Amino acid sequence: MSETETPKPGAGLKKLHLKTYGCQMNVYDSERMAEAMGAEGYVLTDTAEGADMVLLNTCHIREKASEKLYSDLGRLKPLKLANPGLKIGVAGCVAQAEGAEIQRRMPIVDIVVGSQAYHRLPAMVRAADAGQASLDTEFPAEDKFEHLPARPLQSRPAAFLTVQEGCDKFCAFCVVPYTRGSEVSRPAARILAEARGLIARGAREITLLGQNVNAYHGVEDGADWGLARLVRALAMIDGLERIRYTTSHPNDMTADLIALHRDEPKLMPYLHLPVQSGSDRILKAMNRRHTADDYLRTIERIRAARPDILVSGDFIVGFPGETDADFEATLALIEAVNYGMAYSFRYSPRPGTPAADRPPVDAAVADARLQVLQALITRQQRAAQEAMVGREVGVLIERPGKLAGQWVGKSDYLHAVHLHDENLAPGQLRRARITEAWTNSLAGVCLG
Ligand code: SAH
Ligand code: SF4
Ligand code: F3S
Repeated sequence: MSETETPKPGAGLKKLHLKTYGCQMNVYDSERMAEAMGAEGYVLTDTAEGADMVLLNTCHIREKASEKLYSDLGRLKPLKLANPGLKIGVAGCVAQAEGAEIQRRMPIVDIVVGSQAYHRLPAMVRAADAGQASLDTEFPAEDKFEHLPARPLQSRPAAFLTVQEGCDKFCAFCVVPYTRGSEVSRPAARILAEARGLIARGAREITLLGQNVNAYHGVEDGADWGLARLVRALAMIDGLERIRYTTSHPNDMTADLIALHRDEPKLMPYLHLPVQSGSDRILKAMNRRHTADDYLRTIERIRAARPDILVSGDFIVGFPGETDADFEATLALIEAVNYGMAYSFRYSPRPGTPAADRPPVDAAVADARLQVLQALITRQQRAAQEAMVGREVGVLIERPGKLAGQWVGKSDYLHAVHLHDENLAPGQLRRARITEAWTNSLAGVCLG
């Protein structure tokens, strides 16, 4: 470079394309990995073309989710052949579950980093720069959260914060206890400090994340803090307006957490409480350790504390051994709960899980059941959305919408709400009246 030339902005920075699959915890992990790579001089780019590194943060929960990795790697192959300097990394739950098998199947992969080892990513990238393929799928003794750089200068208005990771429940269909390891709760003081940092950088809502977030039990000053105590402490932070938590297990909905939905205005009236099936026989075969009636009574107690709470759920259809009568019991449970929304999946056998070897339900039968269940849930969801018309809600503005002057935010109940108003900006918490409803979103007008 001659002395008169000035460096271009961003010169010397390397480009990282980061793609995230799966759950909110992967979204949080991707943000942390982007921060760790930022400290190494990497900036994010939207496309794999032109990137110096592509990192795929993967999900192993169902076969379709994990196969996406291999189709994406197939698409990356020509890029890697054209530019051998391009580094390709695989992170997350497929990395954890399949480890070296990924590099065997796809030799273009330079780095495999499991979900518990991503604080070691920068060192692995340096090793890859030196021409070494790199694999780390350990569950290290050190705390990855404490080995990551500080959070970035700006936070999204609605931020995620992992408070608990892993699962000891071992539902017979689920890979999470294997990909995320056993349940670990972060110390409350660290969580409170990270929350304060997020708020100082613009967050107004925090969603506490954990595979079993309501099993949170952090030790603080020798005392055992449950999730309710953590939420109460977070609620005292000025500038934090909204608190949510996900995902909860029905068996860990404690009385004090339920009471908090009545007593703590910052705790939002939304609860994701998966049940998977309405048949006691299937719940037992799934190793869920609760009955359909236990679940219904828990929902009743929650609604007694907070009558307007929006309840969502997860369902698996076609679990091995599911009969028509079992499926009818699931439909009956859905009728009894009346969900604001729910996710539903056809059972997918996962290698290494106890249910994987059991005789499957006929695929066509499972598909037909899934359609019936989804139609019922869509009816409930649409009715719940329509019941919002005319109601006043808080909306946290998150981003501009597709139309000029339009903004998108989330209601207290986590509905997507579209508002038209010139004066809105991300991070504003506004009151709005809902004027229109669709199955997946609402429209409203700002009040005052
Ligand atoms: N920790 C949460 C979520 C786990 S994964 C919980 O306890 O509910 C999210 C959802 O994926 C599950 O609730 C379940 O409905 C679905 N799921 C998990 N394993 C599955 C499998 N093998 N086949 C189909 N769906 C599955
Ligand atoms: Fe998976 Fe069950 Fe644990 Fe949820 S509670 S993560 S479904 S094993
Ligand atoms: Fe998928 Fe792992 Fe989350 S398997 S759902 S990314 S915990």
